[in-house]
Amino acid sequence: MRHSIVIKDKKPIQEIKVIGFDVYKIREDFPILSTLVRGKPLIYLDNAATTHKPQIVIHNVSNFYATYNSNIHRGVHYLSEFATRKYEIARKTIRKFINAQYDEEIIFLRGATEAINLVAQTYGKKNFKEGDEIILTEMEHHSNIVPWQILAEEKNLKLRVLPIDDNGELIIDELQNLINSKTKLISVVHISNSLGTINPIEEIIRIAHSNNIPVLIDGAQSIQHLKIDVKKLDCEFFVFSGHKIYGPTGIGVLYGKKHLLESMPPYQGGGDMIKSVSFEKTIYNDLPYKFEAGTPNIVGAIGLAEAIKYFESVGIEYIMNYENQLLNYATEVLAEIKELKIIGTAKDKASVISFVLKDIHPHDIGTIVDMDGIAIRTGHHCTEPVMKHFGVPATSRASLCFYNTKEEIDQLANSLIKVIQMFS
Ligand code: ALA
Repeated sequence: MRHSIVIKDKKPIQEIKVIGFDVYKIREDFPILSTLVRGKPLIYLDNAATTHKPQIVIHNVSNFYATYNSNIHRGVHYLSEFATRKYEIARKTIRKFINAQYDEEIIFLRGATEAINLVAQTYGKKNFKEGDEIILTEMEHHSNIVPWQILAEEKNLKLRVLPIDDNGELIIDELQNLINSKTKLISVVHISNSLGTINPIEEIIRIAHSNNIPVLIDGAQSIQHLKIDVKKLDCEFFVFSGHKIYGPTGIGVLYGKKHLLESMPPYQGGGDMIKSVSFEKTIYNDLPYKFEAGTPNIVGAIGLAEAIKYFESVGIEYIMNYENQLLNYATEVLAEIKELKIIGTAKDKASVISFVLKDIHPHDIGTIVDMDGIAIRTGHHCTEPVMKHFGVPATSRASLCFYNTKEEIDQLANSLIKVIQMFS
């Protein structure tokens, strides 16, 4: 039994069409999308947690191990030189992709989380003193809260929090009130992983810079949905994880302005991050190696570069246009279910729909839709302050990307209606 439509003033979306973009063709590039889950075709709507990998990435990862597996920056032998070249070309690919000025501004790390920890433990430790303040927002992922709390505890700093409203939008007018002479950094998420809100980071950076405050942007959820240009943004730091943009897990990037990275002490000590070592004195290496101690995730960097090349070959404009239409369609279809309440209704949103279904526990919802082969995420999404704001312990979350289809959204809606029927 279909529920009645509650959006009355809108014309229902009939089709999603982006000329030059064929979602069914795109899906052929992702082997996992033809997997059966519990005997049903996989409907993967957990892309904010991680994205799937196109065949070209899988091929390049396995080709590394099959044909040129070697450590980098260390050997003069052929394989080592070849692997080193591929790793450094990957850095260039990423530099161009986010339009950074210098290759040295691209630091390979484990992911966005490690990148924020690095900035806290190097830039923060060096530059912040007792009583200084850091501004975060109420919609941060735990990975952009806890590293600052650890530092705040060590150095007796104060964290100040820019609040959100009930649509899940930042109350930007409050920002100026939070800023004072002790404010040393604003660290803010670009797109909320639990609400989908796209934050006005250009405006935040403008306000911050007019008060001489540096800005860190957590791009974990924006790198795969928006065009990122760090030169244009002029942010001091930008972080992201490779696995959210169709690359491997365990690889991510810290972008930082060169003069800041140069002024920061190393994060970890070890091989490759030094020029010379003696028991009396160690001379650290230049950027970017100063921050890449030990054998890095070589294949991860190479795989990430391939993922980015693939992403660019599809075309960011097509991706943004298609994903936008898909989000509008999904919002409209889910809003038809009168028992369903969307959490996060910002005007500017990307690809995430968090919702609650009456008082049915999200874990029950997740488990039941899984029986239909549908993967969504349930829980607090590592954003407990957001859950607290909305007075819910958890939400269910469908997160979309450019290989999802209108039919998959319909299947989710049908499956959710089944859930309601089971509980009524
Ligand atoms: N932060 C990731 C998510 O939102 C894991 O699911």
